[in-house]
Amino acid sequence: MRVLGIETSCDETAAGIVVDGRHATANVISSQIDVHILYGGVVPEVASRLHIERVSKVVAAALTASSTSWDEIDAVAVTNGPGLAGALVVGVNYAKGLAASLGKPLVGTNHLAGHIYAGWLIEDIPDPALDPGFPLLCLLVSGGHTDLALMEGHGRFRLVGRTRDDAAGEAFDKGARILGLGYPGGPAIENAARGAEATEQMPRAWLGKSHDFSFSGVKSALLRRARAAGVEAAVPGPASQETDTAIVGALASAYQEAIVEVLVRKTVEASEVFGVRGILVGGGVAANRLLRDELVAASSVPVVVPPPALCTDNGAMIAACGSYLLEGGLRSDWSLDVYPNLKLDYAIG
Ligand code: KG4
Ligand code: ZN
Repeated sequence: MRVLGIETSCDETAAGIVVDGRHATANVISSQIDVHILYGGVVPEVASRLHIERVSKVVAAALTASSTSWDEIDAVAVTNGPGLAGALVVGVNYAKGLAASLGKPLVGTNHLAGHIYAGWLIEDIPDPALDPGFPLLCLLVSGGHTDLALMEGHGRFRLVGRTRDDAAGEAFDKGARILGLGYPGGPAIENAARGAEATEQMPRAWLGKSHDFSFSGVKSALLRRARAAGVEAAVPGPASQETDTAIVGALASAYQEAIVEVLVRKTVEASEVFGVRGILVGGGVAANRLLRDELVAASSVPVVVPPPALCTDNGAMIAACGSYLLEGGLRSDWSLDVYPNLKLDYAIG
């Protein structure tokens, strides 16, 4: 089965083509970051308008990249939540029109589940459903979500933990703004921290035996310390002094260490409590080198983590997820709506 996946939930217009749920033959991404960067974050209306301009070109580019003709597409999968409502609508309406004109099935796909299915696109490992096999513990770390979920079968997720305030990605983005490092914050903090030594400890929120997370405390601590150190972006009022890259690097490093340590330790604890056969990581923050290395080092069960390019938003992960939904018999009809607040464990399709 050859599935076209379309993704327009936030600031990437993306289309991917996946064969048999595992082999991405195209994965074209048109990022809007260069536009949103001017505003320091994603502007929803601008995102929708750019998706309208770009979606048909991106889909055509995916077909060209994989030398696929329209009639070789067996089904269309599209992200219908969660995300920005006006952005999701663009992809969903485009996908409806395409599926109708091709006479092919349409399936609405949960973006968060899509991040998890990026794990099925790693070419050089066995099928995660067979090896390590279900149940898997999924750590989903994106810009808006930090969830721990048990995956008991294809498309079957049970949430066991979530953030009580900021998501890990959001913490990276807000932290980078505090340090004057720009957007998106994750890669900016990772770069600033590279080679820098954390000269102090930031607080960690363990929340007892709960599998939930909280990152607002470490963010406030960063703000206080950045102000105390005179980091220009964190001091209210007109810019007064030059930002010292050594100070910013040390703070970025301590901040990254605190976020990663909490993610790693709580994920490993949950994997032991629930006796899972493996850990699957997905979402933009999974591109973080420290997180990838520390999780692999700390876990006693196999850790499946996609290459960085498949961790951030893309269309292939939506096509992969859609493939398994279609295989399970799911089809969406022309009334398919968007669900901006869709959760990972909510029925999909
Ligand atoms: O999954 P994603 O691409 O989009 C959403 O669905 O939200 O995740 C975006 C998030 C942003 O918060 C970004 O700062 C973070 O992923 N991110 C990273 C890295 N690359 C992206 N965080 C830490 N380290 C990275 N290398
Ligand atoms: Zn995402």
